[in-house]
Parts: sequence; C-alpha cells; structure tokens
Amino acid sequence: MSHDLYLAARDAMAKAYAPYSKFPVGAALRTEDGRVFAGANIEVASYPEGWCAETTALGHYIMGGGGRITEIAVVAERMARCTPCGGCRQRLAEFTRPDTKLYLCDETGVVETVTMGDMLPYGFRGDMLK
Ligand code: THU
Repeated sequence: MSHDLYLAARDAMAKAYAPYSKFPVGAALRTEDGRVFAGANIEVASYPEGWCAETTALGHYIMGGGGRITEIAVVAERMARCTPCGGCRQRLAEFTRPDTKLYLCDETGVVETVTMGDMLPYGFRGDMLK
C-alpha cells in the first residue's frame, strides 16, 4: 500500500518548480477513506517566499475536505530519506497524530518508516492555546 503513495509523491516531484535550488521534492498523504493529496515545492525569485512540497500537499488536502491522515510519503531526487523541514513538521503535526506514519523514500520507493512523533517530539500543539 505504501508504494502507491510513494508513486504519488514521485509524480508530484516531477511537477516541482525549483529553478533556484534545483532540489525537487514531492510529498503525498493519504486519508483514512483512501483519498490521496500530493504536492511539490514551489520556489520564488524572492527566496523566502517559496514553499515546500509538504505544504502544497496540505493545501490540496484542506481544499479536498480534510479528514484523518493515516500516512505520508516524502521523496527528493537528490537526497535519499529526505525528511520534512522543521516548519513542515509543525504544519504536518497540525493535521496528524504522533502515530501517523511517515515514509522516507529514495528513487526506488520507501526506505524507512518513521512516525510524526519521531519527527517532532515535544512539538508545540494547538491545544496548549485553549
Ligand atoms: N523542501 C521541501 O519541499 N520539503 C522539505 O521538507 C525540505 C525542503 C524544498 C524547499 C526548497 O524548494 C528546496 O527543497 C531546497 O530547500
């Protein structure tokens, strides 16, 4: 099951707009009812205005109706096991649980499975604001 999510992330990576870093990234996430939302990084000449693949995928997920995320795949063609950046860990944590699976990939598929809890221990949580 995880390989198809990898393929969705890889297909998304092919659509990356990364002329500055030349570091295309793809991400895909699946909800419990089987919907898949994917995204690629999108860069901007004013560098800080660009954003990550995971963020694009989350935008599609929200506009597609949201729901419980069960698994996430991330792939970068120039780096095996690319992990989400710190900001994306926080964004992903907003919509996942500590046991949500995160697949780290290379050019062949999933090479390591971790959890969101592994990625963002002691993360800041919205319920702390209530
Ligand atoms: N990038 C992502 O898309 N996701 C990450 O988690 C790490 C970094 C992108 C941002 C930028 O376009 C390029 O990779 C180089 O940092």
